[in-house]
Amino acid sequence: MEGERKFKRTLVTSALPYANGPVHIGHLAGVYVPADIYVRYLRLKGENVLFIGGSDEHGVPVTIRAKKEGCTPQDVVDRYHKLIKESFEGFGISFDVYSRTTSPTHHKLASDFFRKLYDDGKFVEMESEQFYDEEAHQFLTDRNIVGECPRCHSEGAYGDQCEKCGSTLSPEELINPRNALTGNPLVKRKTSHWYLPLDQYQPWLEKWILEEHKEWRPNVYGQCKSWLDGGLHPRAVTRDLDWGIPVPVEGAEGKVLYVWFDAPIGYISNTKELCDAHPELGSWETWWKDPETRLIHFIGKDNIVFHCIVFPSMLKAEGSYILPDNVPSNEFLNLEDDKISTSRNWAVWLNEYLVDFPGKQDVLRYVLTANAPETKDNNFTWKDFQARNNNELVAIYGNFVNRALVLTQKYFEGRVPVRGEWTDYDRQTVAEFVGVKAEVEKLLDGFKFREAQKEAMNLARIGNKYLADTEPWKLAKTDMARVGTILNLALQLAANLAIAFEPFLPFSSRKLRDMLGMESFRWDDLGSTALLPEGHQLGKAELLFEKIDDAAIEAQVQKLLDTKRANKEQTYRANPVKDTVSIDDFAKLDIRVGTVLACERVPKADKLLQFTIADGLDNRTILSGIAQYYKPEELVGKQVLFIANLAPRKIRGIESQGMLLSAVDVDGNLSLTTLEHELKPGSEVC
Ligand code: MF3
Ligand code: ZN
Repeated sequence: MEGERKFKRTLVTSALPYANGPVHIGHLAGVYVPADIYVRYLRLKGENVLFIGGSDEHGVPVTIRAKKEGCTPQDVVDRYHKLIKESFEGFGISFDVYSRTTSPTHHKLASDFFRKLYDDGKFVEMESEQFYDEEAHQFLTDRNIVGECPRCHSEGAYGDQCEKCGSTLSPEELINPRNALTGNPLVKRKTSHWYLPLDQYQPWLEKWILEEHKEWRPNVYGQCKSWLDGGLHPRAVTRDLDWGIPVPVEGAEGKVLYVWFDAPIGYISNTKELCDAHPELGSWETWWKDPETRLIHFIGKDNIVFHCIVFPSMLKAEGSYILPDNVPSNEFLNLEDDKISTSRNWAVWLNEYLVDFPGKQDVLRYVLTANAPETKDNNFTWKDFQARNNNELVAIYGNFVNRALVLTQKYFEGRVPVRGEWTDYDRQTVAEFVGVKAEVEKLLDGFKFREAQKEAMNLARIGNKYLADTEPWKLAKTDMARVGTILNLALQLAANLAIAFEPFLPFSSRKLRDMLGMESFRWDDLGSTALLPEGHQLGKAELLFEKIDDAAIEAQVQKLLDTKRANKEQTYRANPVKDTVSIDDFAKLDIRVGTVLACERVPKADKLLQFTIADGLDNRTILSGIAQYYKPEELVGKQVLFIANLAPRKIRGIESQGMLLSAVDVDGNLSLTTLEHELKPGSEVC
């Protein structure tokens, strides 16, 4: 690891979302809120920072959407770029620039980047056989090919993935591959592409990541390690497609840069657009090439390989760029215990939230950070959203601020009262409060936004407790000077909260700042008890947060239930039935009832459970790959069905004598088959 490196500036990027659909809470939680917290924090500290965003507008999904809707790809990205940009603005994501990969600046920069690597001999050109549609005269990309899934045998699996069973596929594996749009059958044809020989970068990457960046988050480091352990292979950086940046090489007509080649270069192009328009920021090249720049990529976990392995290799190949210092990547956020899915409309769309909950952007920001999927997948529920708003934002933060302001209004006509002698309790409160600053900083510097926000909330708790304990409203008749001292301190604490929460809840901080009539606003003021001078006139007190009632939450839950129902009715179809079998064939299977006597995990096998089954003869051992779905202890005593005459097999050195019957649905939910009422072990299914 490096020693103390001094930085002059920090360049923060956030993944460029695909402009082929709106953005949802998963995007916000995974990438944009954490990135925004981080840059707001740095700006408050007075650091030199740029926050780069933009839309990723190339790639096959855009073309598919355009064909479906009967418009051009440009129409599609124009529409969604605008919608996405507005959604981010609505949530206060404070980009310095939000541009797009269809911009002329980007086309030129990405094209030049490719050309430089090409001229320097950094690519290898290779021929391969790809699926070709003879009627449409075009090569098809993986996403444009459908067929039967070789794993679960459902129809309509894509060339890169089966959405039913989730398997990653290559088009060659599909049974009966066809053009996804026309249904035309496909033939194989030779085509030639340029590859970035990642295998050549492997030793360098191993040193750079595995040795020099051990501080990266364990999920990021771990994913990199497993890619590297698996051995890297050359990656094609061009495609046969008519939407994208044309490959700037003679004879490459009909080919474009692969979207994952051009998109990350978008970070650079967008910086260039910004700096060219604002020369006072310095040149884009300083931001991207001076080793005194610290580069941080905020991304979701499906982007790790591109940002930690592919893009750095591109930058290294080019030779004049800096490399990322850290790549804080989040895991996924689920919605009401179900995977967020654009195609199943299982999401909370940001543009809809802004309409349904006007003025409540900070509530969502707060809840998403409180549940941030920083170390593992996490879950968003509307109940939790309501509870966190009502019990934390309203009851703690809002309540404290409101009491401090209203009491000052009542007893001191809204002027900051004179501060008298502090008691020991006052001093103790201040000490507790001041200690939190260093803690929040340490957490933010380490990209631990969830805990950092928790600490900020603790400040509000301290304030709330201070007023509850000192009860100034009771002293008002007897000791007005003491009331003044208490409220002075309470107001100073409230002013601290405005600063501490600015990175997390910028809208509320703005409001609080106005209510307190604060002018300066710097991170370094945090911990001060002299932020508001005595006699200072406060603004009008308003509620910082409002309760969210059951009706509003029920409406959202209902929306999701409607989606579920619509999905069931419209898009769900069970897999086609397999070939017919005779009754005699069926009779060969000996399916019986067993009682689970014992069940335990198999060491070092994540998926396996080992069952001891009473079968009415001898007991038998059966292994089943269902450990992700059941806790072993909850199965003991259950009656299950098993195939009794399946040839025994050894798995992990243990002989499995039969197979338990369970069922799995298209969403991957699994259920063991059990009996409706108890029977003797060994009873036969007939
Ligand atoms: N569009 C990609 C996604 O949403 C992210 C692109 S990030 C960039 O998964 F680096 F390529 F810009
Ligand atoms: Zn499948």
